[in-house]
Amino acid sequence: MNTKARFWVAVLVLGTVILGFGQVSMATQTNAMSDRDIAVEECSSCHFFYPREMLPAFSWKKIIDNLDNHFGEDASFDKNSQAHTLTYLAAGRSTEIPLKITSTGWFKQRHGAGFKAMAGNSNIKLSNCGECHRSSF
Ligand code: HEC
Ligand code: HEC
Repeated sequence: MNTKARFWVAVLVLGTVILGFGQVSMATQTNAMSDRDIAVEECSSCHFFYPREMLPAFSWKKIIDNLDNHFGEDASFDKNSQAHTLTYLAAGRSTEIPLKITSTGWFKQRHGAGFKAMAGNSNIKLSNCGECHRSSF
């Protein structure tokens, strides 16, 4: 190989290495993004990033399954990111459709210490809202 040829081989090798590094660092960047990071990126461009606590898991699933017709808008993005977004949104959320108000997380949260103090050892049933609340809400 003459010097000129060697030069071009070197350029080619160097170019490949640089390109390769570029790809590797791009790949690590996507991998390094948490499910939450992806959800925030995809779900806050048009509106407030709604906290996942606001809806049950099956509602988030329905939302992700219908992103191409999202309240009249096309909010779709790539399937892989959709899966990560759903994982974040649905994590820890109930997958049950509740029948009892008194067994929902919301009720339990609102009826912590204060409720226990009022109910005490009495026979007041949780479902008897009127025992403690005068009117409907
Ligand atoms: C292209 C814009 C766009 C993107 C991206 C988008 N949304 Fe929306 N979203 C809307 C519009 C428009 C509405 C309807 C707002 C209204 O009715 O006032 C909406 C409404 C909602 C609502 C109902 C709010 C309510 O209680 O009235 C939820 C929940 C929601 N979006 C979740 C998401 C999630 C989760 C993502 C990401 C996966 C997302 N959105 C991405 C445009 C978008
Ligand atoms: C034994 C008494 C008791 C019963 C029964 C009860 N509650 Fe309550 N509730 C409370 C108390 C006390 C609080 C305030 C809790 C606190 O702040 O720690 C509360 C808080 C709430 C709140 C929040 C009010 C606010 O301003 O944030 C709502 C809504 C509510 N209850 C609805 C209900 C419903 C619906 C039922 C029936 C299914 C019910 N409660 C049964 C005692 C009761």
